[in-house]
Amino acid sequence: MTTPLVEMKNVSIAFGGVQAVDNVSISLHAGEVVGLLGHNGAGKSTLIKMLSGAYKMDSGEIWIEGERATIHSPRDARDYNIETIYQTLALADNLDAASNLFLGRELTTGLGFVDDDRMEAETRKIMARLNPNFKKLKEPVSALSGGQRQSVAIARAVYFNAKILIMDEPTAALGVHETAMVAELIQELKKQGLGIFLISHDTREMMELCDRVAVMKNGQMVGTERVEDVTEDDILSMIILGKNPREAA
Ligand SMILES: Nc1ncnc2c1ncn2[C@@H]1O[C@H](COP(=O)(O)OP(=O)(O)OP(=O)(O)O)[C@@H](O)[C@H]1O
Ligand SMILES: [Mg+2]
Repeated sequence: MTTPLVEMKNVSIAFGGVQAVDNVSISLHAGEVVGLLGHNGAGKSTLIKMLSGAYKMDSGEIWIEGERATIHSPRDARDYNIETIYQTLALADNLDAASNLFLGRELTTGLGFVDDDRMEAETRKIMARLNPNFKKLKEPVSALSGGQRQSVAIARAVYFNAKILIMDEPTAALGVHETAMVAELIQELKKQGLGIFLISHDTREMMELCDRVAVMKNGQMVGTERVEDVTEDDILSMIILGKNPREAA
């Protein structure tokens, strides 16, 4: 057994009277994709937002590579090489791919000027690896398709050495072709040893992309299963009934 990349232990958070996440534990290993499934409001986004530093948990622990971690802000999360890609991507529409990739972390020349040439060359390199069909390097990202925008966001995470990638419904707004492209990217990142938390409502897609799927309901963890041990129907009944059919009654 290797040390997990991430362990969230007995994590809880409430908003007013709503227990959004209730004593949830989940782990993630290097090279593993773990999916989070569950109805709207189940607590999936809230759970990962405690890992990405967007929310501060009320109780529980986060361990990163075997060490207790303190994550109180997105900046803290970044220090642990945690990057998040949301469905509504925070890209600057009027800037090109390279400017977006390095936004806030620009490369500079020895004299301290922004080094556009080097940023473009680096962008070309990483896009060639992640999405060889990507040609629109010089255009503002507003001219890119949803899938191409996703690949710029993923490139940004990879370039800055993300070890832990959180993807909250990355394909929700994408067409079939673009969804397939993001799926390919996920496989590529997995090969490179990243650990990925993936949230999606598409159970079939999750069965294909994930090594394990975790189902949440009403803020609680219904169960986590390796995809080869369950059928899609098992997972659907966990989502709907909030019970794990494989557990003895
Ligand atoms: N900032 C907040 N303030 C108040 N309540 C919140 C906040 N964020 C989440 N909640 C509540 O926490 C619960 C879980 O929400 P969350 O967004 O985690 O669900 P989800 O599983 O991601 O759902 P969806 O599939 O619709 O994205 C919901 O009842 C939601 O209303
Ligand atoms: Mg959500």
